[in-house]
Amino acid sequence: MFANLVFRQLFDAASSTYTYLLGDPNTRQAVIIDTVFEQHLRDHALLRELDLQLVAALDTHCHADHVTGAWLMQQATGCRIGISRRYRPPVEGVGLPLDHGDRVAFGGRHLEVRATPGHTEACVTLVLDDHGLAFTGDTLLIRGAGRSDFQGGNARTLYQSITQEIFSLPDACLLFPAHDYSGRTVSSVAEEKAHNPRIGGGADERDFVGFMENLNLPHPKQIDIALPANLRSGRPADGNVPRPADWGPVRRTYAGLFEIEPEWVAENLQQVHVLDVRQAGEMQESLGRIADSQLVPLNELEARLAEIPRDKPVVAVCHAGIRSGQATVILRNAGLERAANLRGGMLLWSQLGLPVRKI
Ligand SMILES: [Fe+2]
Repeated sequence: MFANLVFRQLFDAASSTYTYLLGDPNTRQAVIIDTVFEQHLRDHALLRELDLQLVAALDTHCHADHVTGAWLMQQATGCRIGISRRYRPPVEGVGLPLDHGDRVAFGGRHLEVRATPGHTEACVTLVLDDHGLAFTGDTLLIRGAGRSDFQGGNARTLYQSITQEIFSLPDACLLFPAHDYSGRTVSSVAEEKAHNPRIGGGADERDFVGFMENLNLPHPKQIDIALPANLRSGRPADGNVPRPADWGPVRRTYAGLFEIEPEWVAENLQQVHVLDVRQAGEMQESLGRIADSQLVPLNELEARLAEIPRDKPVVAVCHAGIRSGQATVILRNAGLERAANLRGGMLLWSQLGLPVRKI
């Protein structure tokens, strides 16, 4: 099922949302489904590190419990934003309005769009071309189904959507929902048909509607923030892209580290404080050191934090950028938030022919 496919499932713990990345390993084109605004840097770093070109950021529906990262993805990659064309008013910023029967291509692969309203008026389920995987949003959850008591939801419609559009897929088709609150990651059509307590085991429409109309769920916590933002595809009200740092082009890696490019540091050496965390003996080696850098070996950093000046952003450097990555964690934990790792360390610095001082 995962042959000839790049597939990643990502999780946002704050909203229990799953985000899915699917790519064509040959052309490197990819789509991402149900992104979370606060996880944008993580997701974008993964795209970069896997060398994928994003063609579309898709949402299975207009979410009420988290803000989508679709607009941020478009700003970062130029991808198109896709969501159902059936919302009224339509969602702003959508370059790829989806409807039943559409195909969203990424390289040689595609997702098929199935309209599965009921949780909201215009939810879709996205089905992979070989019918091996389906992304059900909140229409069908693992052993559950999305609530149908607001946003144009309707339990009868939801019953029809699940039974006609999802349960008609092959039994072995794996189902990936937009959320799970109990640590479950994946299910299958056969499994939900048999064990879903709301709609499995031969439940008819009356059983399902009776269940759904008596859930008595509280109002979602995020709805007043999330819905207006999601009607703009997640564009913030001020239209500004939040940046990881205000002092330079700092990036966050998928590993969660903050790093900066050597060329920028070389051009802006006066603006930053360079902290070299190699052992003193390494200074004698051929790579040399960056002019005016301060030497504090990593194993002494914790004890010597008071020696690090706080008036400038700190760029940590070592041989290959591994130990200095850990140095930035120590610095940031100590309150030096303007700290970043020099990507590639002195190795990359010297490969790029940037200036060094030999001792
Ligand atoms: Fe939802």
